[in-house]
Amino acid sequence: MSKTTATPAGPAPVWDVINGFTSYWALSAALDLGLFDALAEDADSATGLDAAQLATAIGAAGPGQVTVLAETLVALGLLSAAEDRFRLTPTAERYLVSTAPASMAALVRYSPGPPAAWPGLADTIRTGAPEPAVTAGLAELYPALVRATGPTQAGVATAVAAELERRGLWPEQPTVVDLGCGSGAWLTALLRTRPAGTVIAVDRPNVLPIAERAATDVGLREQVIAVAGDYLGTALPVAAADVVVLAHVLRAEPAERARQLLARAVELAGAGGVVVVVDYPRPDPARARHDDGDVRGEDRVAACVAARHELLLSLTMLASTAGLGVTVADLRAWAEAAGAELVDSFEPLPRQHVHLIRSRTPEATS
Ligand SMILES: C[S@@+](CC[C@H](N)C(=O)[O-])C[C@H]1O[C@@H](n2cnc3c(N)ncnc32)[C@H](O)[C@@H]1O
Repeated sequence: MSKTTATPAGPAPVWDVINGFTSYWALSAALDLGLFDALAEDADSATGLDAAQLATAIGAAGPGQVTVLAETLVALGLLSAAEDRFRLTPTAERYLVSTAPASMAALVRYSPGPPAAWPGLADTIRTGAPEPAVTAGLAELYPALVRATGPTQAGVATAVAAELERRGLWPEQPTVVDLGCGSGAWLTALLRTRPAGTVIAVDRPNVLPIAERAATDVGLREQVIAVAGDYLGTALPVAAADVVVLAHVLRAEPAERARQLLARAVELAGAGGVVVVVDYPRPDPARARHDDGDVRGEDRVAACVAARHELLLSLTMLASTAGLGVTVADLRAWAEAAGAELVDSFEPLPRQHVHLIRSRTPEATS
C-alpha cells in the first residue's frame, strides 16, 4: 500500500473559532473600560496615547495590562499604533466610540443575547428550546437591544419608505401596523415621510414605552396607536392596513408561530396593502440532487460561507428562543399558505434583507 503524502489539514479554522471567543471579550473589555472613548476624547487624538497615558485614562492597573489589550486590538484592526502610541482606526472611530452616530458599542454587548444562552446551546439543540431563564433573560434584554439597533433600523425604514413610494405602495395618509415595533425606529422613520399617516404599534409592555417616547420626541405621538401585548393574539383597532411591518421578529419565533404571524400580517394588509418583512435569512434548503443525480456539495458550501453572518444570527436566535431563523423558502411557503406571494426582495443597506409580500386576492375595484 502506498503511503499518502497529502499534507494534513491545518488547525487554523479551529483556532479561528477559539480566537473568536477571546476577540469578543477583548472588545467587550475595551468598551467596558471606555478605551475607545478615551482615545476619541484625547485632545491630541491625531498622535494618540501611549500605554501609560491610556492606563491613566481608563483606570487600568498599569501600562502592561493596557499594552496586551491594545496590541490585541491592533491585531484585530480596531486600533492603530505608531511607535509607542495607540490611535483609533477609522472603523473604531465610526462604530466603537459610544457617542458616534453609527456607534455599535451597545450592540456589541447585546447582539449575542443573554450570555447564559451560550453554555446551554448543546442542551437547547437536544431539547429544542432554551431554559426558561434564558428566554426570560432575552425578554429583559429587549429594551436595551432595540435601543442599540434603533439607529440602523431608522436608516433601513427610510430607504424602504422611498422604495414603497417608487412602487406606488406608499399613500399620502398610510395606515401602518408595526408588529414588534421595538425602539420605534421604523414607525418614526416612516411617519417622518408621511406625517399625516397613522401607525398601530405593537410590542411587549416593557418595550412599548420606548417606541412611544421616540414618537413623542419627534412630535408624532398623536399619529401612533400603541398596543401592548402579544403581536400574534392582541386585538388591533384596524381593518385594513396599507403597510404591515415585520422587522426582525420572524426569526425569533418557532416556525409555526412565525407562519401564523405572517398570516396575520397578510390578513391585516388585505388585498391592497403590502407586508414588509426584514430579516437575516439563512440559506434556502439545499436541493440534494441535481438532474444528473450528482450531489454537488460546493454549492451548499458557497451558500453557507456567503451567509455566515445570517447563519450566526440564526444560531443566536436558536440559543435564546425556540426560533430557527428564517429562509426565503420559508417566507414563500408561509406567504403562499396565507394566500399571498413574495413579490420582491431587495437589500437597502448591506445585510438588511427586505421582502415584500402581497395578497393574491385582487383588489376590489369600485
Ligand atoms: C429584534 S426586535 C425588532 C424591533 C423592531 N421591529 C426593529 O426592527 O427595530 C424584536 C421586537 O419584537 C418584540 N417582541 C418579541 N416577542 C413579541 C411578542 N410575542 N409580542 C409582541 N412583541 C414581541 C420585542 O420586544 C422586540 O421589540
